[in-house]
Amino acid sequence: MVELVPSILSADFARLAEEIAAAERGGGTVIHVDVMDGHFVPNITIGPPVVASLRKATKLPLDCHLMIENPDEFIPAFADAGANWVSVHYEACRHLHRTLELIASHGMKPGVVLNPATRVEVIRDILPMVHHVLIMSVNPGFGGQKFIEFSLDKIRELARLRAELGLRFRIEVDGGVAHDTVERVVQAGAELLVAGNAVFGAGDAERHARDLLDAAKR
Ligand code: DX5
Ligand code: ZN
Repeated sequence: MVELVPSILSADFARLAEEIAAAERGGGTVIHVDVMDGHFVPNITIGPPVVASLRKATKLPLDCHLMIENPDEFIPAFADAGANWVSVHYEACRHLHRTLELIASHGMKPGVVLNPATRVEVIRDILPMVHHVLIMSVNPGFGGQKFIEFSLDKIRELARLRAELGLRFRIEVDGGVAHDTVERVVQAGAELLVAGNAVFGAGDAERHARDLLDAAKR
């Protein structure tokens, strides 16, 4: 039920294949790839060429979190690179319904992301289209930030809404997921736990992934 989704943002980018292998040995089952364009968020990371290399380095699903303006323009390139899941921000999509259809039409699992300040109810009508909903529990742009507590209420609200609508999308949480927050996040209803700093921030990603997953399942 609960899966650990290591975010490579805090990994050593010169050793990505080894870092991912270590996180996988520690129990990570999906790899989270943070794509930032320096416009939607105040940071720049990686794009389709790196995803194409990662595709050759792991068999795990690649969960690409697009923190970019005009995601429609780049969706075909992520599909070609081998991305499996693609999530776009509600705040970055003028025509969210169209963008989610575009992701699905390229054979990828569509997801929608909400910034901390965005209410859950705004995505109600498109929920039948998504494979996952990503609740940001920090403002996007950087790893290692402090968990925003009211995200727990949003996770609970989303779980309620899913039950009310009889849907099956998965609930993912991203930002500040670590030893001091993971139990509450799971209790609130999150199933896909993105963790960057807690897995890759201090060396030995295998051990840190395993410890976090153990804490999540406790
Ligand atoms: C932040 C990214 C996160 C980031 C989380 O914009 O979306 O995926 O890696 O990092 P931690 O787990 O360190 O908060
Ligand atoms: Zn992310």
